[in-house]
Order: sequence, then structure tokens, then C-alpha cells
Amino acid sequence: MANDKLKPACTRHELDQADFLTRSIQFKKQPVSAIIFAFEDSVYAYVNHCMHMHRPLNCEQDAIFDETGKYLRCSMHGFIFDPKTGECQSPVCFGQRLQALRLEEIDGTVYFAEKHLTLID
Ligand code: FES
Repeated sequence: MANDKLKPACTRHELDQADFLTRSIQFKKQPVSAIIFAFEDSVYAYVNHCMHMHRPLNCEQDAIFDETGKYLRCSMHGFIFDPKTGECQSPVCFGQRLQALRLEEIDGTVYFAEKHLTLID
């Protein structure tokens, strides 16, 4: 059952049709972009800020995955991240993580489940 912590992000169908979606949100009082994607049957969302130089992962290309489809990849300098944890696998930022955003999927709708998050669009 939905509660006031849940904000609709997209439908599961939309996610299954796209490599990823972006949403403009306010998180912890900052306007940021979120990336949302399905990976191995689960859904994930992160603040779209690479920890290297705080660029969006899709800043240079309209993609957030590498060519294998197994890792997230920042198109600025090519750093890669584990899609399930957001942990950086590249040496300079090894072990640092993208900011994860909790999601809940209810009856085909995917919700942000974060208290300090509001939708901008
Ligand atoms: S800004 Fe992402 S790899 Fe450099």
C-alpha cells in the first residue's frame, strides 16, 4: 500500500522498454537527476553524479551501461560501477559508491521510497 514516503518514478513497463530513465528530483534539499534502470530482474536508482568529477553518467553519450551491459559506465572518463551496489570498480575511485535511491515496486509502478526526496517534474 502506498504511503507518503512513496513517490511514483515510472512504471515497470517503461523501464523494461528503455535502457534507463532519468527523473529530476530534489534529494536532501539539492535538485539532482536520478537514473533508474532494470538489471537482472530488479530495479535500481542512483543520483546521476559520477563521484569522479560529478558529471552525469550519460553526459557524453545517451547511455549508462558499458558495452558488456554488466557495468554502469560514466561516459565522461569511462569509470565503471557495479549496477547492484553503485560501487566504483575503477582505480581512482575504487570502492566509492554512487548515491543509491531506494525503490519499491507495487503493482507495476516503481516508486522512490526515500523520505528526503521530492519529484521536480
Ligand atoms: S566524471 Fe565520471 S568518470 Fe570522470
